[in-house]
Amino acid sequence: MVLKMTQNWKRYILWFAQEHVDFRQAEFNSLVKLFNIEYHQVSADSLNPFWIVDLPNDSSALQIASRSIGLRAIFELWSHGNDYNSFHKQLRSYVQENNNAIKCYFKEDCSFKITVETYNKHFSQKEKIQKIETMDYLPLEGSVDLKTPQVEWWYIEFWGLDPTQVPEEPEDILFGRWLCNGQRHLVKEMSLKKRKFIGNTSMDAQLSLIMANQALVKPGDLVFDPFVGTGSLLVSAAKFGGYVLGADIDFMMLHARARPSRITQKVREKDESIRANLKQYNCHDRYMDVVVADFSNPLWTDTLKFDSIITDPPYGIRESTEKVETKTNVKQTTKNSDVPHYPSTSHYALQHLYKDLLVFAAKHLTLGGRLVCWLPFHKDDYSDKMIPRHSNLHLVANSEQPLSGHTARRLLTYEKHSEPPGTDDDLEVIVDKSLTLDFRERYFDNALESRTERRLRKAEQREIGRLEALKRGKIAVDGREKKCNLNKARFSSTNADE
Ligand SMILES: C[S@@+](CC[C@H](N)C(=O)[O-])C[C@H]1O[C@@H](n2cnc3c(N)ncnc32)[C@H](O)[C@@H]1O
Repeated sequence: MVLKMTQNWKRYILWFAQEHVDFRQAEFNSLVKLFNIEYHQVSADSLNPFWIVDLPNDSSALQIASRSIGLRAIFELWSHGNDYNSFHKQLRSYVQENNNAIKCYFKEDCSFKITVETYNKHFSQKEKIQKIETMDYLPLEGSVDLKTPQVEWWYIEFWGLDPTQVPEEPEDILFGRWLCNGQRHLVKEMSLKKRKFIGNTSMDAQLSLIMANQALVKPGDLVFDPFVGTGSLLVSAAKFGGYVLGADIDFMMLHARARPSRITQKVREKDESIRANLKQYNCHDRYMDVVVADFSNPLWTDTLKFDSIITDPPYGIRESTEKVETKTNVKQTTKNSDVPHYPSTSHYALQHLYKDLLVFAAKHLTLGGRLVCWLPFHKDDYSDKMIPRHSNLHLVANSEQPLSGHTARRLLTYEKHSEPPGTDDDLEVIVDKSLTLDFRERYFDNALESRTERRLRKAEQREIGRLEALKRGKIAVDGREKKCNLNKARFSSTNADE
C-alpha cells in the first residue's frame, strides 16, 4: 500500500547503520519527540536499513540528523520502485513534474556526483557505472565532481538482509538527493580508545550517545548518573548540552585512582578525571560535580529535580554490587576471633537496586523527564514480567543488546507521567520475583568453560585416544610432532635438490 503524502510534506530516505538495530526505532521515536516533529513512516520494516518517511520539511530532517547516532544519511526521495521498470517510470515522472523546483540542480554551472550503493550484493565499478547509465534521461548539464560536488544523488539497490539468500532481483531501488549525514562521526571522535580516563566498565561512545538521545537530553537540562563510574554517560549527555552530575560508591574509581584498565598503562596520570574527559570533548563548562555516595542511602534533598537520569547500574560481574550498612542493620559475625565484627557493606541485590532506582526516578524527575537504564539478564529467564514497573513511570522503550553467551541486557526508557503521592514508595513499584535470580550467579553458573578447562579437557581426550590406539596395537603419533617431521623432511629434500 502506498501511503498518500500530506500536502506540502516531502518524502525522504533515511539510511541507517546496520548496528544496534534493536535501538533504531526507539532512537528515532525519541528524536521526533525531542524536536516535536510530526512524521509518517511509509515503509514499515524497521530492520531494513533504508526507511521511507514523510516529514513536513527539510529542516525537520536536518533536526533528526543533527542528533541521530543510528542514522548514516538522509536523502530527499525522487524515486522508489520494487523493480527496475517502476523505478525508472517514477524517476522520469518526478523529473518532469518537479521541473521548476529541481532545474537548479541540472544547470551547466552546477557540478554533481552520483553514488551507487548496493546492500547485500557486490557490484564492480564497471557495473555501477552501467547502473548510472540506465538513468540517461536525467537532464544533466553540469560537470562531474567526485570530491566537492554542488549536488549529490544516491542510487541505492537493496538486495534483502540475508547474505545466504540473495534474491534474483533487488527488493528496493531508490534514488534521492543527499541532504545531510547523521552523527555517526561522534562514535569515532568520542571512542574510548582515545579517552583520557576509562575503566573496565566504561560504556562505549555509541551506546552512551544513544542513551542521551533516549533521555531526550537538550541544552540546559540537568542530568544525573547515580552509578557514574568513569562518567561515560555524563560525557555524552554534556556533548548534547546537558549539565551533568554523578555519584558512585567507589572513591578510587570516581577520582581516577583505581588501577588503570589499559594494558599499556602502568599508573594513572595525575590529571585523569571525569572533568578531564568532558574537557577532551570541549564540554567541561557543563560539568556540575561528582560525589562519593551509596545509592541505597540517598543524600539528595526531596526538592531536587533532574530532567533525566541516565545510568548503568552494577551487574556484579566486573564491579561489585555493594551498599553501605549501618550497625543496626547487619548481624554481628565473629570471624576466627572473639571480637564481634559488623560488616560495613552488604550485597546490593538487583531487585532492591532497581526498586530504589525507580522510586528515586519517580521522586526526582521533572514531569516528562526520563530514566534510561540497563537491565542485565540471562536469556533463558527473560520475560516482559521481568521489567520493573512504577505507577508514575511509563515504559516507552525496551531494546536488547546481546552480550556474550546466554546473557544480554536491555536498555529501558521510562518517562515520568505523574507525581507520586509520597505516602508509601513501596506501593508504587513492582519488581518481579524473577529479578531475585542473581545475575552474577546466573552468569557464572552458565559461563562457557574457561580456556584452561578446555585445554585440559582436550588433553584428556587426546590421552584417552592414545591409550585406546595403543590397545589396538597402533603406535599413536603426536599430530604436532608428525607435522614437524614432515616439514623437516620437505625442507631437507629441497636443500638436497639444490
Ligand atoms: C557498570 S558501572 C558504571 C560504569 C559507568 N557507566 C562508566 O561509564 O564508567 C557501575 C558503577 O556502580 C558503582 N556502584 C556499585 N554499587 C553502588 C552503590 N551502592 N551506590 C553507588 N554506586 C555504586 C560501581 O562502583 C561502578 O562504578
